[in-house]
Amino acid sequence: MSEIFTGNFTQQEPIPDAAIEAALQVLRHGRLHRYNTAEGELSETALLEQEFAAQMGAKYCLAVASGGYAMATALRAVGVEPGDTVLTNAFTLAPVPGSIASVGARPVYVDVTEGLTIDLDDLAAKVGQARVLLLSHMRGHLCDMDRLMQICDEAGVTVIEDCAHTMGASWNGVLSGRHGTVGCYSCQTYKHVNSGEGGLFITDDAEIAARATILSGSYMLYERHLAAPAPEVFERVKFVTPNISGRMDNLRAAILRPQLRDLDRQVARWNERYRAIEDGLRDTPGLTVVARPEQETYVGSSIQFLLLDWSEESVREVVRRCGGRGVELKWFGTPDPVAFTSRYDSWRYAQTPRLPKSDRVLAGILDIRVPLTFSVEDCSQIARIIRSEVATVFQAG
Ligand SMILES: Cc1ncc(COP(=O)(O)O)c(C=O)c1O
Repeated sequence: MSEIFTGNFTQQEPIPDAAIEAALQVLRHGRLHRYNTAEGELSETALLEQEFAAQMGAKYCLAVASGGYAMATALRAVGVEPGDTVLTNAFTLAPVPGSIASVGARPVYVDVTEGLTIDLDDLAAKVGQARVLLLSHMRGHLCDMDRLMQICDEAGVTVIEDCAHTMGASWNGVLSGRHGTVGCYSCQTYKHVNSGEGGLFITDDAEIAARATILSGSYMLYERHLAAPAPEVFERVKFVTPNISGRMDNLRAAILRPQLRDLDRQVARWNERYRAIEDGLRDTPGLTVVARPEQETYVGSSIQFLLLDWSEESVREVVRRCGGRGVELKWFGTPDPVAFTSRYDSWRYAQTPRLPKSDRVLAGILDIRVPLTFSVEDCSQIARIIRSEVATVFQAG
């Protein structure tokens, strides 16, 4: 009898007790709006910003409504205007080109490598086509950030990092989100901290931080922020920066603060599970395990493998057979977007000529979520199931 996995790939862990307690306090006093504070009170949102800035070693932090909102705000705050072009990854999820489109700009897609990172040779070739790069560390894969920054610095290109999948990761000891001018994080349920929805924005640039704060809907209450620049910086931007409300509220902030304190422990737990799957998949004929560079400290909250140059029919068969045994594989090669997977050619509002190199890699990417509700043994079982189904289809082909 072949084994069947019965876990749920979308079930995250419960919210920790300390976060529930903090949320209840906010609910009991009723001051959910970030600027609704009692005399002398520091809001949960302002405290979250102060703590996250310190955790990331950033001068400024702004908490907002979502990761997508953080990215759109970053684009506006660094000066992207309607009609501009913005470099970004061909391999990413819809909120990334969506944030570019939301400011009236147009993405210029850069190829993806077999390591699932942005192709730095293609970036070097295209870097003259825009003034800003919205770099997505898609599915937690960090490229050679030293070389990327060198390419962008030499070309005068501002880097905004989409760290939706890399909160807690680092490259050569530098935390993800600290190489570029702005780092954007998501606190949505499937990310590394869970407030349902939510986003965080960090930068060391005072004027960008002030613009982002006004953009997020601070009115003239920005002095209640604890990780914001001095009031004189706001004086320079406050009358020329629109309010595009997207604030975080105190309930979400209360839920997030205890989770952020626990991030390192959670990262270690994700990586134990990631390695169990990776070890179980190694040396499967026809299957490529994605190599992780030595300089990268990753967070294994999802894992990808490649069935490179397989026929569409054979990949579909693997997905079908694994699905039948309880292992949900997301395939980036599917011609139409399914659930959270999507490809650059499905974003028809931002059409681009075909990218044959990326097409080849995307056609082979299979993706699995690794929620912390799975045990390490669950992860070994998932790998056994994939291994046996890949082997069956590979041998038949
Ligand atoms: C790669 C990537 N970037 C950004 C986001 C945006 O995050 P949010 O859902 O908080 O807007 C997501 C969300 O799924 C994502 O996967």
